[in-house]
Amino acid sequence: MEKGLFITFEGTDGCGKTTQINKVKSFLTSKGYEVVVTREPGALDIGQKIRDILLHHEGTISDKCEMFLFLADRSQHVDTFIKPYLEAGKIVLCDRYTDSTIAYQGFGRERDINLLKELNDIATGKLMPDLTFLYDVSIETAQKRLGDERDRMESIGTDFDLKVRNGYKRLSEENPDRIKMINAEQSIEKVYEDTISIISKLLDKRSNK
Ligand code: TYD
Repeated sequence: MEKGLFITFEGTDGCGKTTQINKVKSFLTSKGYEVVVTREPGALDIGQKIRDILLHHEGTISDKCEMFLFLADRSQHVDTFIKPYLEAGKIVLCDRYTDSTIAYQGFGRERDINLLKELNDIATGKLMPDLTFLYDVSIETAQKRLGDERDRMESIGTDFDLKVRNGYKRLSEENPDRIKMINAEQSIEKVYEDTISIISKLLDKRSNK
């Protein structure tokens, strides 16, 4: 593969995306691909500090500060990790990316979506995923899966979660070629089957080019 492949995994907290990423990694590795798994926020050393503030800080964090922290983390992550691996021809699987900022800070916190798109472009140098999975679950299912131990972002409230979920759906409608929505209420195995069928189509298309 001359150029790497960038695949992102999105959805509300409790949608099961992390389980799917691990399964996808095993699948692709077994096919002989070189795969790197990463996440936002907090893949690298600086990112881990930013993640700790974002998810565990006990005092107030203003919405604007929260937005810049997610973007700061992304900018470092793209420049020092994602881009170099893509340039080396690897498949990069990333747990959350730019769509999370649009869904959570844009639709959830009700910040200006166009401004967030511009800021995402600055943070990433306009690096967009080749493919994005959106795992859609009801708020009730997500809450059951999350249980009682919640971080700062998971504790905001049901109204917020609903706005984020609907925001994600809007994004998938607006970007049908890139964002594939999967019903994550189904069993882990069925969600995995749906995921692999989409990835396989993309890999076939690329190898026929
Ligand atoms: P995540 O790593 O999925 O949490 P966990 O490891 O607990 O499953 O994501 C952390 C939280 O940060 C999640 O609630 C979504 C939120 N988030 C944003 O609000 N904006 C962003 O740009 C990103 C990347 C994440």
